[in-house]
Amino acid sequence: MKLLRWIKKFFLFCYYRGKYWPKIWDQRAIMEYSAKELHKCRGLGLTHPEIRDAVKQILDLKLGELVLDIGCGGGGGLKLCDEEKVPAVGIDFSYEMARLTKNAIHYPILNADIRYLPFRHGVFQKIICHGVLHYVPSKDIELALREMVRVLSPGGLIFIGDLPKKSAKRNWWGFQTTFFAREELENLARRVSKRIEFVNLGRNTLDFILK
Ligand SMILES: C[S@@+](CC[C@H](N)C(=O)[O-])C[C@H]1O[C@@H](n2cnc3c(N)ncnc32)[C@H](O)[C@@H]1O
Repeated sequence: MKLLRWIKKFFLFCYYRGKYWPKIWDQRAIMEYSAKELHKCRGLGLTHPEIRDAVKQILDLKLGELVLDIGCGGGGGLKLCDEEKVPAVGIDFSYEMARLTKNAIHYPILNADIRYLPFRHGVFQKIICHGVLHYVPSKDIELALREMVRVLSPGGLIFIGDLPKKSAKRNWWGFQTTFFAREELENLARRVSKRIEFVNLGRNTLDFILK
């Protein structure tokens, strides 16, 4: 059984190699996760209860606030919203990931890309973007940040958690990921928002808030 699984994985790997990120996440959703097991999965950032608790403190969710979880993946961010009893919407550019998570959580999830958010201006009070920016081509990072600021309501807060440049050595599966030095990301973020604040979650990541 295990051997069959590995053979299947190998063929899928060959098929998807050289294709693009949404397909890779489709494949991961199909092969690695099940709706039931999703929240136990350690490979998807906010599914870690410790990370989720730290982010929960930062977000300080209040009743009546509407949250957008961008690149919701396994739905860890949405679970956080559920725990705080606030309404939320998730988006993920992997159709399969969105579908899988939709089966596991009661929030609406759309199949959409961070660069072109299908929402009107200023509708969300809080936005979560965790472990997503490094999949966006570097030329589009500013566009992604602008889109988040566009859909944020005045006085709202965006939490961004991502990987630091140190991890850039690995070109996972032959795909290019975008990694940032703190200053690079800070400069980009300052172009779209005046108020940016780095937060220390006690881990080796770049975590910051945009207002
Ligand atoms: C590492 S997982 C993080 C999941 C979740 N945010 C968390 O922290 O638990 C990355 C997720 O981002 C999604 N993603 C990557 N690039 C995206 C994009 N441009 N727009 C929307 N979703 C994206 C992937 O499909 C995947 O589900």
